[in-house]
Amino acid sequence: MSDQVSAVGDGFAARHGRRPDGVWSAPGRVNLIGEHTDYNRGFVLPFAIDRRTVAAVGVCDDRVLRVSSTFTEEEVSLAIDDLSPGAMQGWSAYVLGVAWALSDEGHDLSSAPGLDILIDSRVPVGAGLSSSAAIECAVAVALNDLWDLNLSPLDLARIGRIAENRAVGAPTGLLDQAASMLGREDHGVFLDCDTEEAEPVALHLREEGLEILVMDSRVEHEHATGGYRDRRDSCEKGAAALGVSTLRELSEDDLDRASAALDEETFRRVRHIVTENARVVDTVRTLGDSGPRAIGALLDASQASMRDDFEITVPEIDLACATAVENGAIGARMTGGGFGGSAIALVPADARSDIGSAVTSALASAGLREPHLFTVTPSEGARRDI
Ligand code: GLA
Repeated sequence: MSDQVSAVGDGFAARHGRRPDGVWSAPGRVNLIGEHTDYNRGFVLPFAIDRRTVAAVGVCDDRVLRVSSTFTEEEVSLAIDDLSPGAMQGWSAYVLGVAWALSDEGHDLSSAPGLDILIDSRVPVGAGLSSSAAIECAVAVALNDLWDLNLSPLDLARIGRIAENRAVGAPTGLLDQAASMLGREDHGVFLDCDTEEAEPVALHLREEGLEILVMDSRVEHEHATGGYRDRRDSCEKGAAALGVSTLRELSEDDLDRASAALDEETFRRVRHIVTENARVVDTVRTLGDSGPRAIGALLDASQASMRDDFEITVPEIDLACATAVENGAIGARMTGGGFGGSAIALVPADARSDIGSAVTSALASAGLREPHLFTVTPSEGARRDI
């Protein structure tokens, strides 16, 4: 049992005067490749990281959900029968939203008992590593067990996404919740967002002496508003103009036609999605045929496409990626929704600290904000810990 799990169990006991009935946890994620492809029903290849959100939960003899956390004083209570998107605000919407999504999807909660829920998170917030999905998925596995719902990990990921879309109001795809639910040690999750079929893909990082260095730009992003939503709109506009229901239906052979039919900006948005889907499939194939040292060019091409075609990177991320590659990284790219957040570099373990120092000095010399640098390992998805 991790120190985080036992600390949250003890914290629950101190707060509620009894032990929790169980402790569940779920990780944040890094997306190795496949950005903004999920809501276009394309391909993604994320992995779950070794930073988790923990939920200690105790059953009550009423029908009230009481949510508290180790990161704010605020405690929120809401009766199960009063759950509705309008009744939830702030961070507790990630918790209560999951309960609401279950009832909205037709699961019978009429005899579900109330719960005391204590949340603790070690997934950095605002870094683009899906701290919100980690909360949703930790809560989803807990509710699944305590309310005897018998849902599959993929069903629970879908419930988490519904909470995020309709209770929190961020129009995101399934990427984050699928990674958090389905992650496995040293594996990526290859997800087809059209069929929603997922397959583990061995990454072999440790055997190859490689690490994933996260370079958090510390530029804050927000997906409920702004650029993320605009990019979604552009994708829908492009698909409609080209007569397809999703951009997933297009291949690189369609790009000439797309270029003739679309305005210049919409064409670049479409080209990012089409080429990014191809890069995800190539990355999966290359990992299987030649191993992780061979995927650098695909990561770099993805970064260039996000920078030039989809325009979702920021100067901090572009410089961090370029500097990492110039100093020996195998490849580097932004990860997550963009407009801030983090980039990742695939680095030889013995070069990590030199690459990190080069990135920090390059950003300082350019007068940009100092990044937070740390490594993550592909880890297990959501689970019951106690
Ligand atoms: C955010 C969203 C995901 C996905 C990525 C971009 O992380 O939550 O659904 O769209 O951005 O790939």
